[in-house]
Amino acid sequence: MKKIAFIGGTGAENSVLLKDVTEHIIETPYGEAKYEAGFFEGREIIHLSRHGAHHTIPPHKINYRANMFALKMLDVAAVISTTAVGSLNPDYKPGELVLLDQFIDMTKAREGTFYDGERYGVAHLDMSHPYCASLREAILAAGRKEGITLHPQGTYICTEGPRFETPAEIKAYRMWGADVVGMTNVPECQLAREAEICYASISMVTNFAAGITKEELSHQEVLDCMAENSRNMYRIVTDVFETYDVEKDCHCRHAAEAFGGFHV
Ligand code: HPA
Repeated sequence: MKKIAFIGGTGAENSVLLKDVTEHIIETPYGEAKYEAGFFEGREIIHLSRHGAHHTIPPHKINYRANMFALKMLDVAAVISTTAVGSLNPDYKPGELVLLDQFIDMTKAREGTFYDGERYGVAHLDMSHPYCASLREAILAAGRKEGITLHPQGTYICTEGPRFETPAEIKAYRMWGADVVGMTNVPECQLAREAEICYASISMVTNFAAGITKEELSHQEVLDCMAENSRNMYRIVTDVFETYDVEKDCHCRHAAEAFGGFHV
């Protein structure tokens, strides 16, 4: 049986939607990964807290490759992830949700590919549609059903962090067309594609980005906003857990076909 995984970002560290949760550590060729396995209405779901159970792993130190490889080892075929983001777009306001459809990579020093010339050789995968179309459709349908404001498109710019951006950086990123800024969706999204796993990401706007607001930024406001608004995000995720047919084949699951496929 193929599985769905939930990768929880800031403010979504706990597997609140699951029952009979057990904790696990799994060894991968890229290091170890921690995850929880639990049940939602009888279906086994994997919960992986990106920053660790107590938010102790900063964005640039997350072992993205071990995490994604572990999910592949566990027969995960679809990942719904959440991220806290700052908004560069005046129409995307704190407390609102954005379903990402593009990203811009401004990270600097992360192991971001399985195709590094070693275990899996070299491959260049298409990223015209970085996020899974069918998973995005399921999330959009869930948002409509629940009557929740979910912006259907958003370009995410991923910065290295862990510091927030300068207003000058944000001004430049806005000119490039970024709607939201965060520190984790790259390389997570591209590793999912390389591992032939369907992947979509729901971003929660927790603040206006530096310079868009006159206020200085704080991590506390990010946490407070997540705590106040994560209910909507969980309602959507619950609905997707209920309705998404993870066994149904998808384009994403053949992304590396021209290079022999991705096998653990
Ligand atoms: N910048 C980067 N990452 C973030 C922000 C931000 O303004 N808000 C939440 N995560």
